[in-house]
Amino acid sequence: MEKIISLCKRRGFVFASSEIYGGFQAVYDYGPYGVLLANNIKQAWWQAMVQAREDIVGLDSSIFMHPKIWEASGHISGFSDPLSECKNCHTRSRVDHLLEEVNVFADEKMSEDEVNKIFDEHKSKIKCPSCGKSDFSEAKKFNLLVKSNLGNFTGDPMENPSYLRGETCQGIYVNYKNVVDSTRVKMPFGIAQIGKAFRNEITARQFIFRTREFEQMEMQYLTHPDNEMKEYEKLKVDRFDYYINNLGINKDNLRWHEHENLVFYAKAAFDIEYKFPFGFKELEGVHARSNYDLTQHAKFSGKDLEYKDPQTGEKYLPHIIESSVGVGRTMLAVLTDAFVEEELGPEDTRIVMKFNKKLAPIKVAVFPLLKNKPELVSKAREVFDMLKLKYMCEFDDNGNIGKRYRRQDEIGTPYCLTVDFDTLEDGCVTIRDRDTMKQERIKIAELTSFLAKELE
Ligand code: GAP
Repeated sequence: MEKIISLCKRRGFVFASSEIYGGFQAVYDYGPYGVLLANNIKQAWWQAMVQAREDIVGLDSSIFMHPKIWEASGHISGFSDPLSECKNCHTRSRVDHLLEEVNVFADEKMSEDEVNKIFDEHKSKIKCPSCGKSDFSEAKKFNLLVKSNLGNFTGDPMENPSYLRGETCQGIYVNYKNVVDSTRVKMPFGIAQIGKAFRNEITARQFIFRTREFEQMEMQYLTHPDNEMKEYEKLKVDRFDYYINNLGINKDNLRWHEHENLVFYAKAAFDIEYKFPFGFKELEGVHARSNYDLTQHAKFSGKDLEYKDPQTGEKYLPHIIESSVGVGRTMLAVLTDAFVEEELGPEDTRIVMKFNKKLAPIKVAVFPLLKNKPELVSKAREVFDMLKLKYMCEFDDNGNIGKRYRRQDEIGTPYCLTVDFDTLEDGCVTIRDRDTMKQERIKIAELTSFLAKELE
């Protein structure tokens, strides 16, 4: 993990937020290559989820919504984690995470008293993750919703707060009728959305795995009640395959985890887990949520949210299955999966990020062999200009070629092109493959078709 964090900082993937002010806990910024990687991850998701599917449409709902939405969804009363403080070093930890360390699993719907009961039974065996002592305070439940004073200009701004959304899917539920009324979707169909979510996470270690501000990619699929579980099984297969086929993740690093303690309305809940450097942990949640969400919103809004089948006239509240995953969490999985340290010889190693080519932040790097030879620089610029609008390219004339290759390896650039003196004679450049390090000559005139074949 330390090696990945260090590469992310050194090569401009991820920076701690507000670093010059000492950082801001559990919030991160994406640097120049991080933003490209995140965009490629979102694009791959959108392509698979919306573009490739006739039965799924997109949405972009706002971060702020009517506060009643969070009452209806149960987030105001129930969206909380149990917290305990180490009496020795004052580190606060999530009690469910502490219990997991001794293979005891707390249920998220347990009351504070119930959590304290099992915590009391086991806490003597549990050590504080910071200081190693075993002296904990009572567990207290702590709500994760982030409050704001948006639109509140009187009195205590935290009275009658509005909330930054805790999950993006609520914006989908409350817009589902608008989508039905304004498009040609027919049951079953899905609504997909990518957007920011905010949670006052208690323990926010593990880099970008769990952050307080993060982006979710969520798809909610609406079905007739009778078809919920059939569609759920299909979605599970699609989502697992997506990581292998679309993102190129090693299948040995993925597995299913079934939730044993289901919230009362859920029919089934499985996580796709990825083998992060700190072990197998949740990457994505795939849930069958029944008609709970729409029932709640119908009740709290007083609006009829039933779907009327245009063919049969049957009216019903759709059941919903969802796929939900974080952009940052996918990025950490992709970074972990791509990170390779290769021994090239005695005392010679290289770090190479073997990203799936579709996800690589920079697709092609163009080098003039020598910086001080204007004819090489201008030819290299010509090649760069020819490719730059089609692919994210980088021009680099700094340092020797070996160093330039290593830099591109560390950011995972699939191809490096070098313009040398022969180029001026034969119209060819040297193309170097990131993974095999093989170098070949290729005609400049053939570059676009070669790259189209390899990168698209
Ligand atoms: N709508 C369902 C939902 O939000 P969740 O299990 O709370 O379910 C779904 O979150 C996914 O969102 C997780 O699997 C993870 O990928 C991502 N996620 C949740 N909380 C996160 C956090 N604090 N930081 C980064 N990603 C997070």
